[in-house]
Amino acid sequence: MNATVKTGKKHFPVMLNELISIISPLYSGTFIDCTFGQGQYSRAILKHQGNKVIAIDRDKKTAFNAENLKEKYKDRFYFKNIKFREINKINIDNKDIKGIIFDLGYSTNQIQDPEKGLSFNSRGKLNMQMGLNNFSAHQVINYLDQKDLEKIFKYFGEEKYSKIISKKICETRNKKKINTEDLVNLINKSKLNKNFKIHKSTKIFQALRIFVNKEISELIYGLINAFNTLPVGGVITVVSFHSIEDKIVKFFFKNYSQSKNLSRYLPEKIKEKKLFKLKNNKPIFPSEEEIKNNPPSRSAKLRYATKINDSENFDIFIQQFKYLLDIENLSKKI
Ligand SMILES: C[S@@+](CC[C@H](N)C(=O)[O-])C[C@H]1O[C@@H](n2cnc3c(N)ncnc32)[C@H](O)[C@@H]1O
Repeated sequence: MNATVKTGKKHFPVMLNELISIISPLYSGTFIDCTFGQGQYSRAILKHQGNKVIAIDRDKKTAFNAENLKEKYKDRFYFKNIKFREINKINIDNKDIKGIIFDLGYSTNQIQDPEKGLSFNSRGKLNMQMGLNNFSAHQVINYLDQKDLEKIFKYFGEEKYSKIISKKICETRNKKKINTEDLVNLINKSKLNKNFKIHKSTKIFQALRIFVNKEISELIYGLINAFNTLPVGGVITVVSFHSIEDKIVKFFFKNYSQSKNLSRYLPEKIKEKKLFKLKNNKPIFPSEEEIKNNPPSRSAKLRYATKINDSENFDIFIQQFKYLLDIENLSKKI
């Protein structure tokens, strides 16, 4: 889940060497870092004199890290506090763009930030907003109905105990508003006498983070807008941290790629329109050494593709994940 891990004061970005070896053949140019965070990727790219970086992050707290880079790199660096689905709102000279980079998930700073309440170790009122949100986990847990909660937990958390947990939530909130500790306790009670390899609350908290931050539509429209922003010859790279993210990225690259079409039933005309060249069909994983030094990197997958054609629409892509977008839209009831 976290791409950046804190040990003392140092942060380790995941698969930085692998990322640099993918994009360095395209130096000198402009790179868009869609998930600036602590700025480790941006900093590494800016080490090359001929590169510029346009960085985006939805968390306004990352603007502080951006100020340091701005001071050092002046007009080679630009930062905007927006969501990456809004990438097309930045006024840029597209022809210079060589690569667009996504390092999904959260930095450890965010996970540890008590104000954000992203972790099941947090205390007090539920929140989980990364930045630029419309509602919090408090509203989701305390106001959505049982069936809706069940769907969110099942599809965004892949939680087997979705039904019983959502039932317990609704029973509990009849008596009091549910906070973070209450939620962890009632999840524990719903999974009584069972042993789990991961913390019992992991999946529910993942589901809530995805829902509150609209991570599904962010990723889908972020990828589409990145594609439309990138000139032919440029590369899109994505580091993902859970299976739902990877499923979306994999479909986007593979379905529109040269090497393989996932859907055999598509009309020939659509199949002919190859948008990407894929060097690897399989994702790249962190090395054993990286996992040893930075255990949370173990769930990371890096996929990348080079744009070879423009496209008019991405209806098939959107349609493929409509069932997830529909669940995200349950937030309209809040
Ligand atoms: C894993 S961290 C990135 C770490 C970064 N690569 C580094 O080198 O420090 C992910 C960052 O992406 C940001 N983020 C996640 N979703 C976003 C979105 N939809 N739009 C903009 N930023 C987003 C988070 O706020 C977080 O700071």
